[in-house]
Amino acid sequence: MSELAQVRVAMIGAGSMANHVHYPSLASFDDVEIVAIADLDPRRLNATADKYGVSRRYHDYQRMVKEVAPDAVYAIGPPHIFYDIWVWCLQQGLNLCIEKPMGLTLHHAQSLAYLAQLHGCITQVSFQRRACPLAVLLRAKCLERGPITHAVCRFYKCQPAADVSAYGHMMGDGVHAIDTLRWMCGGEVVGVQSIGRRVGVHDLNFFAALLTFDNGATGVLLNSWSSGRRIFDIEMHAPGICAEAELEGMGHLYADGDTVGTTFDTREVAGGDELYIFGGFQAKNRQFIDAVKAGRQPESCFADAVKTMEVAETILAQTRLQE
Ligand SMILES: NC(=O)c1ccc[n+]([C@@H]2O[C@H](COP(=O)([O-])OP(=O)(O)OC[C@H]3O[C@@H](n4cnc5c(N)ncnc54)[C@H](O)[C@@H]3O)[C@@H](O)[C@H]2O)c1
Repeated sequence: MSELAQVRVAMIGAGSMANHVHYPSLASFDDVEIVAIADLDPRRLNATADKYGVSRRYHDYQRMVKEVAPDAVYAIGPPHIFYDIWVWCLQQGLNLCIEKPMGLTLHHAQSLAYLAQLHGCITQVSFQRRACPLAVLLRAKCLERGPITHAVCRFYKCQPAADVSAYGHMMGDGVHAIDTLRWMCGGEVVGVQSIGRRVGVHDLNFFAALLTFDNGATGVLLNSWSSGRRIFDIEMHAPGICAEAELEGMGHLYADGDTVGTTFDTREVAGGDELYIFGGFQAKNRQFIDAVKAGRQPESCFADAVKTMEVAETILAQTRLQE
């Protein structure tokens, strides 16, 4: 089968993240046409469709899909509202890109992965940190020296919310850090040790987990939602070399005991000042579009992303409460 030249994408959802990162990413690709948009909110629908010059506008996403027969669908919105939409899209055999998390529960994620396989859909969960140009560059530099021996991911927020459960924190946010560790270490998690704490709230909002991988690498996960500010940073180590980076800021690479190292600015590496570029969303969306064109799965297909949800559930199950 020959490769698609142009990918016709239909969008379900014209909300915040969609407008922030997914519409601008897709609009930046010459080989993508946003053919239609569906949203229940007429104000959001029209504002987004006007901005991107899309004439076909719908309130009923099922009608949209039937009328425009897209090559792929982006269904971007929170899992408690979008799960049924995702299921319907997969049942129609549509190629589908969604935001994280892949459902509210591991059961949701497993059912989506099952349906994707059953109906032969090309799928992606937007775990964009794997595609952040700074992270990709630093990992490639480390791999020139050999496999990653250990990696660290720290994900902190200043959100001491009493109404969010440990499960919600880990499945909604923690999955970003777990997925980034899986990518950095380049293997599958085979062991988990974890401690958790409740800092000012009734359920766990701090996790320190040690992950062992089937290739011998070690991953360290630090997640706190009661910290002073939002930080997402990484460390990677390979023989004689290490890198550290705050993915939305600066990165540093050190080799052979040199303490000065080389400094990289995430915006310069990515070649753009906008979050959708330096944050990795554009590159992640590129992976999905290329996969749809070639008729194969991208690296963050549902079959892979469900493994991140499984690790999240295992961490929750294994966490020992530290009073
Ligand atoms: N990857 C990241 O780093 C990152 C960061 C922040 C948020 N997120 C994720 O993004 C997701 C939220 O996306 P968002 O901000 O675009 O959501 P949003 O809530 O702002 O927008 C959802 C839109 O969907 C529309 N909608 C709801 N039901 C519909 C239906 N049946 N048919 C058509 N439209 C319908 C709503 O009217 C709304 O405009 C969450 O899952 C969140 O976890 C990811």
